Amino acid sequence: MNILFMGPPGAGKGTQAENIVNEFGIPHISTGDAFRLAIKQGTPIGIKAKEFMDQGLLVPDDVTIGIVEERLQQSDCEKGFLLDGFPRTLSQAEALDDILARLNTGLDHVINLKVDREKLLARLTGRRICKNCGSTYHVIFNPPKQEGICDKCGGELYQRSDDNEESVGIRLDEYINKTAPLLTFYEKKGLLRQIDGDQEIDVVSSQIASILRG
Ligand code: AP5
Ligand code: ZN
Repeated sequence: MNILFMGPPGAGKGTQAENIVNEFGIPHISTGDAFRLAIKQGTPIGIKAKEFMDQGLLVPDDVTIGIVEERLQQSDCEKGFLLDGFPRTLSQAEALDDILARLNTGLDHVINLKVDREKLLARLTGRRICKNCGSTYHVIFNPPKQEGICDKCGGELYQRSDDNEESVGIRLDEYINKTAPLLTFYEKKGLLRQIDGDQEIDVVSSQIASILRG
């Protein structure tokens, strides 16, 4: 099953992806995670991406599309995949169609998580992530049992450098200007399903799972 998660920064795409990839046994492809790994490793792509990510701006399409194309060609994607954070521009969406056509496949579901802008700021500034396993928490909405420590692996929790008020404002504007128009693109293809992302995490998960189970 080939799934695409859409929604503004902080809508819960990464949180929901953790549950869905476990249930369906498919790889989670997050361009944001791929860039953060490249930054950590100091690769040329990471150095380039960091300039844009720190400011809350989208990384240029040519860099981003190349990463996804390479990833989708790997054999573990043959059983399906969950794309999170890509595509984010019309050029990326058109490139994805071309890549999938070359691989003789296509998208089965596009799920959009809807959350109001004012809620997103609180979600993003309170987000904490495990340094070790990447699990996502929130200091108020989804706190770990022990402050600063991951429930799943005991790893230390950190705050993303772009989860400050200034970067979040720019990320939300980028979303409105460049990514939100893609909703019409997928609606016209008859693939788009809307979910209210402003509900308990487990409620959102079960609504997504019921769409995917058909
Ligand atoms: P990326 O890493 O993709 O970040 P994002 O889209 O900004 O999305 P987030 O990861 O911030 O949000 P999310 O929806 O996953 O929310 P989460 O589940 O964590 O991109 C980062 C940057 O990389 C971009 O700015 C850009 O520079 C670059 N980039 C990436 N892809 C690109 C592309 N295709 N093209 C160009 N550039 C690209 O949840 C957020 C918080 O809310 C958490 O604390 C969570 O615990 C909490 N929460 C989740 N669900 C709920 C709920 N139901 N109720 C209450 N709290 C909740
Ligand atoms: Zn962990």
